[in-house]
Amino acid sequence: MKAAYILQTGDCDVIQVGELAEPNCGPDEVILRVHATSINPIDTYIRSGLVAFELPQPYRLGCDASGTIEQVGDNVTRFKIGDRVWCTNQGLLGAQGTTAEKINVSQDWCFSIPDQCSFEDAAANALVGVTAHLGLFREAKLCAGETVLVIGGSGGVGSMVVQMAIAAGAKVIATAGSDEKCERVKTMGAEVVINYQKESIADVFQKEAPEGVNLFWETRREPDFDLAVQLLAWKGRMIVMAGRDARPVFPVGPFYVKECTLSGFVMFKATPDEMRICAEDINRWMAEGKLKANIAERFPIERIAEAHRLQENATLTQSADLGGKIIIQIQ
Ligand SMILES: NC(=O)c1ccc[n+]([C@@H]2O[C@H](COP(=O)([O-])OP(=O)(O)OC[C@H]3O[C@@H](n4cnc5c(N)ncnc54)[C@H](OP(=O)(O)O)[C@@H]3O)[C@@H](O)[C@H]2O)c1
Repeated sequence: MKAAYILQTGDCDVIQVGELAEPNCGPDEVILRVHATSINPIDTYIRSGLVAFELPQPYRLGCDASGTIEQVGDNVTRFKIGDRVWCTNQGLLGAQGTTAEKINVSQDWCFSIPDQCSFEDAAANALVGVTAHLGLFREAKLCAGETVLVIGGSGGVGSMVVQMAIAAGAKVIATAGSDEKCERVKTMGAEVVINYQKESIADVFQKEAPEGVNLFWETRREPDFDLAVQLLAWKGRMIVMAGRDARPVFPVGPFYVKECTLSGFVMFKATPDEMRICAEDINRWMAEGKLKANIAERFPIERIAEAHRLQENATLTQSADLGGKIIIQIQ
């Protein structure tokens, strides 16, 4: 079967696309005929060695996938052959990834795709959707009527945070890096979108939300705590989830005097039960049209190295060339 894999970490040229042996189905697993996968920044960190996991040889790239179940293991109770499912949390902590014509996945990490949704949309929303849900609801306990600021509303995670916060009844203010990206974030339902290339976020706040925000979601790899604490309301919450090497200055005084809270998390440490809670809302909102995939680019599997380069440049050098998810079309 065709797969995208690496034999050693390195730049995008280490990616090979070729034939690998088909996977075996364990008793708790399903075999998925993969239709689409999506790229996440973590795929590029693992490929380059920036995040070092002990990798199987060869290591198939990718965390997310969607497809059709072709085989079920003896203990599988939740799915049957022919079901359309999406999965995430693959390719991490030394496990095999998803970019192949067929993959074996534990039933615990698979979730049904609503009838109305395409394979591409399900793959695009997988890891980023779970991330947004964990942060908004498990960590920040967002309530209807609260105000959320999303730094990076046009990105993979940011666009999920924007739409989920709105679905939960919050008011959303977001930032994006161009007028076109701002327009797109507005169509997702954000009330105010700030083009941070043209306007100062703090200035817009003086006008739009002088009382501050209940939740500040930072997607950048260099969190700006000074800005966050300035814009947070009393007892505001802040989410950080990016920038392993970041060591920014933290304004302790104003933070505790405002009685704020800071949460950090990584999605891949969530349990299957925690992810199932996320997946149930994701699927319901996708079926209701409240959670739309934010797909920016599509590449056939043969061109996955280009896709990695595009994602890597956007993440590490903030190239601004990307405005959403990259889909890898498998078949
Ligand atoms: N902890 C976790 O579990 C977890 C899960 C998923 C992702 N992550 C991390 O979260 C980060 C975002 O992931 P992603 O999938 O959303 O990536 P992405 O799709 O590439 O989005 C990155 C976002 O950053 C924005 N951005 C770039 N430079 C900016 C700047 N100078 N000021 C403000 N915004 C800026 C981009 O918006 P514009 O182009 O509009 O500027 C874009 O919205 C990555 O570092 C990733 O590794 C962590």
